Amino acid sequence: MDTSSSQGRTMSKLNAPSAFIAAYGPWAIITGASDGTGAAFARKLASLGLNIVLIARREGPLSALSQELKQQYGVETRTASIDLYQPGAGQRVIDAADGLDIGLFVSNAGSDPHGAAFLTAPLLAWQEMLQRNITALVEPAHHFAATMVERGCGGIIVMSSGAALGGQAGGVVYSATKAFGLNFAESLWAELSPKGVDVICAVCGAMNTPSLNKLLDERNLSVPGLLEPDDVIETLLQRFGDTPLHVFAFQGNDAHAHKVEDERRQRLALMEKMSKAFYGDVAH
Ligand SMILES: NC(=O)c1ccc[n+]([C@@H]2O[C@H](COP(=O)([O-])OP(=O)(O)OC[C@H]3O[C@@H](n4cnc5c(N)ncnc54)[C@H](OP(=O)(O)O)[C@@H]3O)[C@@H](O)[C@H]2O)c1
Repeated sequence: MDTSSSQGRTMSKLNAPSAFIAAYGPWAIITGASDGTGAAFARKLASLGLNIVLIARREGPLSALSQELKQQYGVETRTASIDLYQPGAGQRVIDAADGLDIGLFVSNAGSDPHGAAFLTAPLLAWQEMLQRNITALVEPAHHFAATMVERGCGGIIVMSSGAALGGQAGGVVYSATKAFGLNFAESLWAELSPKGVDVICAVCGAMNTPSLNKLLDERNLSVPGLLEPDDVIETLLQRFGDTPLHVFAFQGNDAHAHKVEDERRQRLALMEKMSKAFYGDVAH
């Protein structure tokens, strides 16, 4: 497979709902689904006919969204109140989907509620972020990817951030975990896409979500030009199956976004060859 080009390898299944459901249905599971981007994913995927498992901590918003999805789109739903900061949360996510055929895993919960210098917040805050953004990504991905490979189709979406592309004062652990998500998703794409499983990472700019707005309001700040979650999701789903990552342009700099995508895509192809030289063809 040619993994070196990021340009238009396949047609998006988004424009053919039956193909979308066949590839990524019948159930999707979304972490951080009670508001913001996660809730927007839930609405979009339900509108395409997928049944949804909604995961977050607050039962009220989960239950309200669950009712809305059932009434509006006639899909089935399941909710689970899970604190992804806690050890064992990854297994609880897996257990929440017990008995369901999960075709799509959206790892979404993962913003930085602290916006603090490394030494300003207690170590526990960063340990919780590692647990939610890394362990609670890897454990369910390992479980769900195995069943997707068995059936020869499925998808994983990882919400990362522009913060993944380099270090950042005021976001030491956040940026490190988002870089983990990016490298994790790209590597998984290289291993799983030949087996029919699509993986995409969103290298996302600032979005108009309750989490970011809360942080900004607390500091009496405002950021112009926030992306709308619905637009971000539309773009991601259009490119799903075609690329391991979508870089959303920072401050309108499309050329930089394309350059990052292309360079990382070329590096991925190179590393596949390097990997074969060191380990043999273990990935396929
Ligand atoms: N917003 C931005 O500007 C921006 C920019 C770049 C990238 N991103 C990325 O996009 C993704 C979504 O961001 P977002 O702004 O929508 O905010 P978010 O805080 O990542 O997501 C909010 C959702 O996550 C849930 N959540 C948060 N912590 C949780 C925990 N410990 N356990 C279980 N659920 C938890 C919240 O529900 P409960 O409170 O009910 O648990 C809510 O449903 C994140 O991965 C973020 O890094 C966001």
